[in-house]
Order: sequence, then structure tokens, then C-alpha cells
Amino acid sequence: MKNQLFSWFNNQIPIHMLQKIDEIRERAKSAAIESIEELEQYRLQFLSKKGVLNQLFADFKNVALDDKKSVGQSINDLKTFLQERFDERKLALEQVSDSSTKTDLTRPSTSLPWGTRHPISLVRKEINDIFGRMGYVIADGPEIEDDWHVFSALNFAEEHPARDMQDTFFIQQKPDILLRTHTSSIQVRTMENQKPPIRVICPGRVFRNEAISARAHCIFHQIEGLYIDKDVSFADMKQTLLVFAREMFGEKTEIRLRPSFFPFTEPSAEMDVSCSICGGKGCNVCKYSGWLEIMGCGMVDPNVLKEVNIDPEVYTGFAFGMGVERIAMLKYQIKDLRLYFENDLRFLEQFSKQV
Ligand code: DAH
Repeated sequence: MKNQLFSWFNNQIPIHMLQKIDEIRERAKSAAIESIEELEQYRLQFLSKKGVLNQLFADFKNVALDDKKSVGQSINDLKTFLQERFDERKLALEQVSDSSTKTDLTRPSTSLPWGTRHPISLVRKEINDIFGRMGYVIADGPEIEDDWHVFSALNFAEEHPARDMQDTFFIQQKPDILLRTHTSSIQVRTMENQKPPIRVICPGRVFRNEAISARAHCIFHQIEGLYIDKDVSFADMKQTLLVFAREMFGEKTEIRLRPSFFPFTEPSAEMDVSCSICGGKGCNVCKYSGWLEIMGCGMVDPNVLKEVNIDPEVYTGFAFGMGVERIAMLKYQIKDLRLYFENDLRFLEQFSKQV
């Protein structure tokens, strides 16, 4: 008390400053801080270099020595108060702006465009479905194969060109491990594990060491078919493939079988369908022949049956294999194989109406 009176008479600063500190505290308490702009106003007014707090520290120099302790304490308390209010409002405002942009659970979601089925998937499904209706079931096999399943069991001669690195991707040699070059390897796996009657359809990816162009690719898809039972004949095969061709390309489609050679079938044939584009009259798609080649086929060679312990004296069967890309090209008149792999939406969106 004595000190205060003394100060009051000699130097009015302490009383004056304590009042001022209270006033500032009241002003700061009632200052509206409801937006980022108001927060900045608050900072400028109270906490910045030219703000009132710094002014108080400047005035503090003139406080009498005896009063420095209490006044200093008050200024420090005020400083803490001003800073705490600032921090607390800042946090609250940031949370408000965060929650309004990130977690409004009532907002309707942004709609994403539907994807479409790839033309290869569409055609593969259609082929599987057609054969499914004729009693064929789907069989599967690995893409990485050994020589026996891809070549030896299928009666390929030791020096056959397909066994060359130029045509086949080898992963390892002696023992040979490779990427299958055709789905015929799935025939072998099925016959190894199942007793006749066997009626399977085997879709899958195959790999060949080819330069990529409009007409060739190193990865493509095949579908293999196999039917083994007692008394299966070439006529059965022809009728089955005719039904398939008409379901796939239309009721008026005709088929033609030309003699050919495959190591695993005897006799072997190449099957053509009448051109679905010109109806057989001749156009640039069928190269004016009226026919389109779509698959290889034939009666399973007795040597193949022996390899998998099926008695060729009791059982016979037929097999066929076709390229899915080729069928899709004919069906949708696609001119370049590379389109299947490029994922260009302008190409893929054209199939959005197909199911
Ligand atoms: N595997 C043959 C190829 O890739 C296609 C083929 C032809 C499969 C005749 C067969 C067949 O099952 O009987 O060219």
C-alpha cells in the first residue's frame, strides 16, 4: 500500500498501466472472432509487432523499479491470455472449415461412369455360353507350362519349329519351362486327371514370340474344345462346329472344312465360315473369297490318347481351337489387334451396349 501510494504520487504509471491492462483484457475478451479475417484483425490489434501488447512492453520501461514486479506480472498474464484466446479460436475455426469440406456425410456422392466389358471378355463369354448349352464345362490350366504338356504329349516332333526360342518364350531350359503357346496344353491336363467321357472348353491366354503388328501379337487368347467318349466321330465334330458357327455368326452361316495338319489330330482340318459381312458374295474382309478362317480342328491323334493313358481302341474324340481376338475382329469388324491392349476409351466405349 505504501508503495502504491508512493508510486501514485511520484509516478502515475502503475495505476494507469494496471487499468489499461484490464481494459485491454476486456476488449480482447469481447472481440468477435468468428472468421479467419476476424482472427487476423485480432492478431494485428493485440499480438503483432505494432499491437497493444508490444506497446505495453515498451511502456514498461518507465515503470518505477518497485512496481516493476507486479506490473510485469500483469503484462505477462495478459500476454498469456491474449495468446491462448488466439490459439483456441484459431483451432476452432480450422476445425469448422475442415469439417465443412471433408466430412459432410449428407452430401450426395459424385457419380462415376460405368465401366464396360472388354470385347475379348464379351466374345469369350459368348463362346463359353454356346458350348455350355451343348454340355461342355470349362477347364483351366497354368500359363507357365512344361515342355511335356505343351509339346511332347501333343505329339510334336523333337525338331518341331515351335520348340525353338524364336517362336516360344522359354523361362528355363533343361528341363524346359515356358509360356504356353496354345491352350491345347489344357486338353492334356484334363485328360491326365479325368476319365472319359470328357467334354470341356478351355479358354486362356497364350504367348508367342512374335513382333507386334496390326495382325500379330505376342499375347492373345484362345479357346480350346475337347470331346472324348466311345464312338465320337468326325461327323459329330462337324455338326457341333456348325451349331457353334450359326449361334455365333447367325442362322444362315455355312461352314467348310479344309484338310490341314496338326501334330495332335489326325485327320486335321481348318474350318471356315461363310463371310458374315457380305453373306458369301465377296468383300474386302473375306478378301473376296466369301469365306473366313476361324479355327483348327480334328480327331484326337491316338498317340495323344496313349500319352495320357486313354485306350485309343476304346475311345475316340475330337478337338478344336480358335483365337478369341480373331473371332472378335470378325464379329465387330476390328481392323487392328493392338486396339485390344491399348485401353483407349474411344475404342472400349463402343462396347458399352453389349452385355
Ligand atoms: N493349338 C492350335 C494352335 O494354336 C489350334 C488347334 C488346332 C487346336 C487344332 C486344336 C486343334 O485342338 O484340334 O494353332
